Amino acid sequence: MEQIPWQERYKHKLYLQQDALKCIKKGQRVFIGSACAEPQLLVEELTNLGSQLSDTEIIHTLTLCSAPYVEPGFIDNFRYSTFYVGPNVRQAVSEGRADYIPTFLSDVPAIFRSGRIPIDVALIQVSPPDKQGFCSYGISVDIVKSAAESAGIVIAEVNFRMPRTLGDSFIHVDDIDILVASDRPLIEVNPVIPDEEIAFQIAEKTAELIEDGDTLQMGIGRIPYAIFPFLRDKKDLGIHTEVFGDGTIKLIESGIITCKKKTLHPGKVVASFCMGSRYLYDFVDNNPFFEFHPSDYTSDPFIISQNDRMVAINAAIEVDLTGQVCADSAGHLFYGGIGVHCDFIRGAARSRGGKSIIVLPSTTGDGSKSRIVPHLSEGAGVVTTRGDVHYVITEYGIANLRGRNIRHRAMDLIRIAHPKFREELLAAAKEYSYIYPDQVLPPRTAQYPKNLEIYKTFKDNLVIFFRPVKPSDERTLQEFFYSLSDGSIYRRYFTSKKTLLHKEAQWLVNLDYREQMAIVGIKKDEKGNEKIITVGRYLLDRTTNMAEVDFTVGDQYQNKKVGGFLLEYLIQIAKEQGISGFTAEALATNPAMLKVFYKSGCVIKSILDGGSYSISFRF
Ligand SMILES: CC(C)(COP(=O)(O)OP(=O)(O)OC[C@H]1O[C@@H](n2cnc3c(N)ncnc32)[C@H](O)[C@@H]1OP(=O)(O)O)[C@@H](O)C(=O)NCCC(=O)NCCS
Repeated sequence: MEQIPWQERYKHKLYLQQDALKCIKKGQRVFIGSACAEPQLLVEELTNLGSQLSDTEIIHTLTLCSAPYVEPGFIDNFRYSTFYVGPNVRQAVSEGRADYIPTFLSDVPAIFRSGRIPIDVALIQVSPPDKQGFCSYGISVDIVKSAAESAGIVIAEVNFRMPRTLGDSFIHVDDIDILVASDRPLIEVNPVIPDEEIAFQIAEKTAELIEDGDTLQMGIGRIPYAIFPFLRDKKDLGIHTEVFGDGTIKLIESGIITCKKKTLHPGKVVASFCMGSRYLYDFVDNNPFFEFHPSDYTSDPFIISQNDRMVAINAAIEVDLTGQVCADSAGHLFYGGIGVHCDFIRGAARSRGGKSIIVLPSTTGDGSKSRIVPHLSEGAGVVTTRGDVHYVITEYGIANLRGRNIRHRAMDLIRIAHPKFREELLAAAKEYSYIYPDQVLPPRTAQYPKNLEIYKTFKDNLVIFFRPVKPSDERTLQEFFYSLSDGSIYRRYFTSKKTLLHKEAQWLVNLDYREQMAIVGIKKDEKGNEKIITVGRYLLDRTTNMAEVDFTVGDQYQNKKVGGFLLEYLIQIAKEQGISGFTAEALATNPAMLKVFYKSGCVIKSILDGGSYSISFRF
């Protein structure tokens, strides 16, 4: 028997908009295509039919259109359930007129296929068919493909404006039951250029953790978008992400995203949907640089982890002092969704050299509430557990919580909280016995002087990273002390000091960076772990405007000109602070220290008093 060409079958399936949805029966479950690929004509028609329907359950994720079906007037006709609570349905969910399904987006296709959420009718939007009769799901493959494959009836809006994206992104005309032609412009989400200083500060810190050749996932939101301008100096970045927007295109056009170093799908951007401008939609059209896959592939942690050096960047609503991350609700108010947050955090954790980063401003928009909190707000849900969390970044700094105990986490998170909330966070952490009862903080005015971070190479290719000490250095500073020989300890402290206990060590790391300064020299191993190998500090005497200085260089690094450099550097910093000069005590039997002072180029006054010299010099 001769096969009828698909073109003929296609024609027979074409309906007018007003007739296309008549097959929907009362009480059925209807899926609507996601995000910017929402089939707008079909949704309009569904709403037109509203009064004739009852108890129609709508399954969706991320509504960007007006969502009339959640209006109170449709209470008996529609019940809306969503995997992501977008802005247009937030009020309905908060008033109990619509439902939120907290599920990993990567799990949704399996939920559809298993019949756990049976779909009677799928309303989707696709590109026109190609020569073989395949339509592309275009800008949203995500959960749409699995919904269409599981649905009893598939109704598709065929729109020539929908780009033909490549990858696992096609449906054959034979698998569509009803077609409606559309020329409606696709929904566009114009790139939000964040004007907030805070978003840029967070973005700049985040970009510090991104290295050439890394593969990135960035969630949607203002802060991830703000990162793009800070990636201009990077090379050969790759993308494996659930969603991307116009920012990604700019970096592709400027040759920064090449995907060349990717270990999975090299040379390809892998995603499951995109949202942005018409320019973006034209860019992905028939473009083999992009591969679109369903969410159960793109966001499967096992797949993600096959990208070496995977960096996952996601926003959060609150983080508690133990590192629990709330990302889908503000208290009881559902806001957003579980999405791919945890999937990418787990995938990045398992990736060789991977990093996962949570970004959030330190306070709510009006500054009235800290987003680093002693405990999550009542009703807030944990999306990323304290076992999964890795980096947390606010405009005040970067906290690396991976493998750290609760005390360390609490202190690190308090350090990156807004200064006006640090005291109360400290008090709460003490109340919960997370930290030492006598724990101190740096003065509120202290601002970590990042501009003082420098790398310097010494003899025998010894590379040292010098930076101001941080409160989180307490343990590493203790380790440095305990690594010193008895001789070095004696020369530094003039006594056989045996311990550097917390009650003393904490005062050495919680500084104001003005009158008290300490620069630590750090050696990083090949895995990026930091070890302090030298420290130089000064303490200002306000009455004389002279600062007392001291140094220690780890035994195996002495006589490599490290001490000489540290003195030079501390002189430079002190001069900039308006300090007049340094004083020091050095044992007469410490020629190395004396030599360092004499080689500084300053005019040294030294007075021998017993077995030690009192040294002073002005800059
Ligand atoms: C003192 C100390 C900070 C110097 O740091 P360093 O990195 O070794 O110093 P540098 O390498 O820059 O300079 C040391 C100079 O002393 C010289 N020196 C070392 N031992 C010496 C000795 N026994 N006699 C004479 N000169 C000596 C070195 O040759 C070098 O001079 P050069 O630059 O002309 O070669 C370091 O040895 C140290 O930490 N010692 C233990 C703690 C301590 O003494 N702190 C000072 C308390 S005030």
